Amino acid sequence: KILILDFGSQYTQLIARRVRETSVYCELHPYDISPQFIKDYDPKGIILSGGPASVTEDETPRAPQIVFELGIPVLGICYGMQTMAAQLGGTVETARIREFGYAEVSTATDGSLLQNIQDRTNTKGQNILDVWMSHGDKIVTLPPGFKIMAYNTATPIAAMADETRQFYGIQFHPEVTHTLQGKAIIEHFVHDICNIDYSWNMPNYAEEAIGKIRSAVGNDKVILGLSGGVDSSVAAALIHRAIGKQLTCVFVDNGLLRLNEAKQVMDIFTRNLDVTVTQVDASHEFFKYLQGVSDPETKRRIIGREFVEVFQRESAKITDAKWLAQGTIYPDVIESAGSKTNKAHTIKSHHNVGGLPETLHLQLLEPLRELFKDEVRELGLALGLPREMVFRHPFPGPGLGVRILGEVKHEYAELLRQADAIFIEELHLSGWYEKTSQAFAVFLPVKSVGVMGDGRTYDYVVALRAVQTQDFMTANWAELPYSLLSKVSNRIINEVRGINRVVYDISGKPPATIEWE
Ligand code: XMP
Repeated sequence: KILILDFGSQYTQLIARRVRETSVYCELHPYDISPQFIKDYDPKGIILSGGPASVTEDETPRAPQIVFELGIPVLGICYGMQTMAAQLGGTVETARIREFGYAEVSTATDGSLLQNIQDRTNTKGQNILDVWMSHGDKIVTLPPGFKIMAYNTATPIAAMADETRQFYGIQFHPEVTHTLQGKAIIEHFVHDICNIDYSWNMPNYAEEAIGKIRSAVGNDKVILGLSGGVDSSVAAALIHRAIGKQLTCVFVDNGLLRLNEAKQVMDIFTRNLDVTVTQVDASHEFFKYLQGVSDPETKRRIIGREFVEVFQRESAKITDAKWLAQGTIYPDVIESAGSKTNKAHTIKSHHNVGGLPETLHLQLLEPLRELFKDEVRELGLALGLPREMVFRHPFPGPGLGVRILGEVKHEYAELLRQADAIFIEELHLSGWYEKTSQAFAVFLPVKSVGVMGDGRTYDYVVALRAVQTQDFMTANWAELPYSLLSKVSNRIINEVRGINRVVYDISGKPPATIEWE
């Protein structure tokens, strides 16, 4: 396995993704993790990530010395390369010309790191790589023992290697897809240089995870809050495969779910998979507490608090349960580890099934903690969950509660559910569902005048939202075809009595957010 030390680059998660894609297990940890941890982890290779700091300044992050003492291959990327150079006796300076974005580098033919990896040959017969750079500092003298492996005019040392000690550095970012041969470079490092087999795959992982769950849990009972989302669903399927009827899922219907969602979830889990699920219809309670409340953050807090209330009440009925299972996935783990130092503003207080309180006095079981989202999906398929569930767009914890602007009323939720279902159905039929990352309808509690037949209407408005995004941190609105929008609009206005106007949201994130509240 590979260890990735994180120096704070925006792309560190991508490095981990790329390594996993080569079927090798890796973990990502902060650069200042203890030397003992590194020893115990027993990596076959270490990757030092990029980062925002400058090694030309004092007190900036350095790799733990042990990294260079274990006798295993080390690959430094961008800042990781610079700190490697500085720590091993080279020099780094702030460059006069910063390099940002696309660049070409020529590669040396007498080194193993980039050997046989090239995009093309130029007129002088040099091997050329198309890469993506993002740096202000550069290495000006090599540390003893190193040779240049790639160069261009702006960055004479764009890659370096000490083949004897197996230390490698690259200034550009192989983890981003703009570096076309990036995957090949990482694969070469992991398989050929570190000598790791292709051992990380879903069937193996599932088998191992099932074994671990069995030995941790023994004969104890486990409770899991099932939301119908991908993560909790896959966790439920996996744990059920491991311990069968010792698992009870609690599925809280808060009245803010999508059309037929509760029935679909119950069908898949109780009928197809024979999982024990307690369905709790708590919609009355949720609507009662939401009555008269229109502030988005207050609504979010009420929905979150009510969920915990109901969940606690229901789980108390499952006597002698010892474990609480959650669908926490690797990005959640990394984010909450980072959030101790993260001073970012709270735009929205998120509510997840994952956020249950410690007062439940249960031990946590989080079998997806090591997986990225697409790995979770792959595992879900391997466990027999239907594709529609595994590839469903994300749905926020507070559900339609944040898609009904202002006060949440039962009547509004009914209208929104119908409109939303029509939109999603048409996206599926037109092949646009897979081309968008998230799409939904939003209920606007304003009335506008319309004309239907010969009569005047005075009804509510629905907004359609469809976005494309990699990480949900930034997003573009989807350029859906006019013909599709037109069809959706016609159907909603004709089929949903109470809606007489449909608008399309053309705001990006930022400055808007994906959800309206
Ligand atoms: P925003 O609206 O902040 O949403 O651009 C980004 C992504 O997060 C989802 N979202 C939530 N997910 N609990 C969740 O589990 C929440 O409270 C929550 N609020 C927003 C949103 O659907 C989008 O995918």
